[in-house]
Amino acid sequence: MNILLTGGAGYIGSHTIVELDKAGHSVVVVDNLVNSSEESLRRVAKIIGKDVPFVKADVRDAAAMNELFDEYKIDAVINFAGLKAVGESVAKPLEYYENNMNACFVLLDVMRKHNCKNFIFSSSATVYGDPAIIPITEECPKGQCTNPYGKTKSMLEEVLMDLQKADPEWDIVLLRYFNPIGAHQSGLIGENPNGIPNNLMPYITQTAVGRRAELGVFGNDYDTPDGTGVRDYIHVCDLANGHVCALQAIERKCGLAIYNLGTGHGYSVLDVVKAFEKANNLKVPYSIKPRRPGDIATCYCNPAKAKAELGWEAKYGIEEMCRDAWNFQKNNPEGY
Ligand code: NAD
Ligand code: WQD
Repeated sequence: MNILLTGGAGYIGSHTIVELDKAGHSVVVVDNLVNSSEESLRRVAKIIGKDVPFVKADVRDAAAMNELFDEYKIDAVINFAGLKAVGESVAKPLEYYENNMNACFVLLDVMRKHNCKNFIFSSSATVYGDPAIIPITEECPKGQCTNPYGKTKSMLEEVLMDLQKADPEWDIVLLRYFNPIGAHQSGLIGENPNGIPNNLMPYITQTAVGRRAELGVFGNDYDTPDGTGVRDYIHVCDLANGHVCALQAIERKCGLAIYNLGTGHGYSVLDVVKAFEKANNLKVPYSIKPRRPGDIATCYCNPAKAKAELGWEAKYGIEEMCRDAWNFQKNNPEGY
């Protein structure tokens, strides 16, 4: 298939191009580069041995998107485009609602005008809020999101469900990602956050490479085995492969389907620090800080539905995630 990746120059998008190429698909990327750089696509080109067709445009620009769909015959879209920093979304709610919602609305409208009704949406474990069931299955009720970023994901899921109900010609897969970390084994592409990292793994790798003095561990008094927050970390290449499997579901005319993409294992912050130190034979200085507002104690999934219906399961463990995250950081100390 010919797949359009909105936001395809970003962290997860760039890794997904590699997996799609491996599976024999061709891709087109549209990105406004607000949180990425074209260098990621040049690196992907090195990995796959061919250029990646790229249109620099904002997905909210309907004219540009119409032109793109006129020029390329697109069979399916994977919608990665969006702003994703939780804290920033609290400070700039209007910017987050406007960008994430409008980009999706414009895209869906242009798609239906071009009779392309195959769609994969990057959703998030954040839609479960403080989860009612652990491990989290897809049946777990959605929860109260504490921030505008999470609310855009939850609301767009509702929009997509209504759309598919109104027009069953659409096949739509909502992929709820848990915590993607790690990088492609080549060390050429990886996570490249702007400024001070919000997320745990890039903070650890930047501390290990000397760009940050120490990791702050946000709270050690949660109701978890060691008191620090527990999450379901998933290797970004496994996550990328999940999109290939979701496309197969679309080819089988899945209607509206929802899948958790995680490993099903929960690791605490201190587990991750220890695993990183062991995998890379390094020390990561850290100190305990107060809890971060909005954080929950425990979040990990039951990935059985994705295995049963998509034939997908994570191949990589925490050791490979830590090894590959560090391999990218040490080869690219200042990022791209
Ligand atoms: P990323 O920021 O690296 O990639 C998103 C890309 O979208 C960036 O390249 C950015 O430039 C682009 N973009 C943003 N707004 C755009 C617009 N209006 N027009 C065109 N391009 C635009 O983030 P990522 O980690 O690769 O995440 C990809 C998707 O997965 C996002 O929707 C994110 O919310 C979702 N997600 C990410 C995580 C995570 O932890 N990384 C977890 C769950 C869900
Ligand atoms: C993981 C754990 C922190 C940084 C976020 C979004 C979620 C999804 C994934 C996009 C927590 C602790 C972190 C640090 C720390 N993103 N931590 N020191 O919060 O589970 O999920 O990213 O959709 O929506 O909310 O991920 O990596 O920020 O935190 O102690 O410097 O590490 O408290 O327990 P989180 P994270």
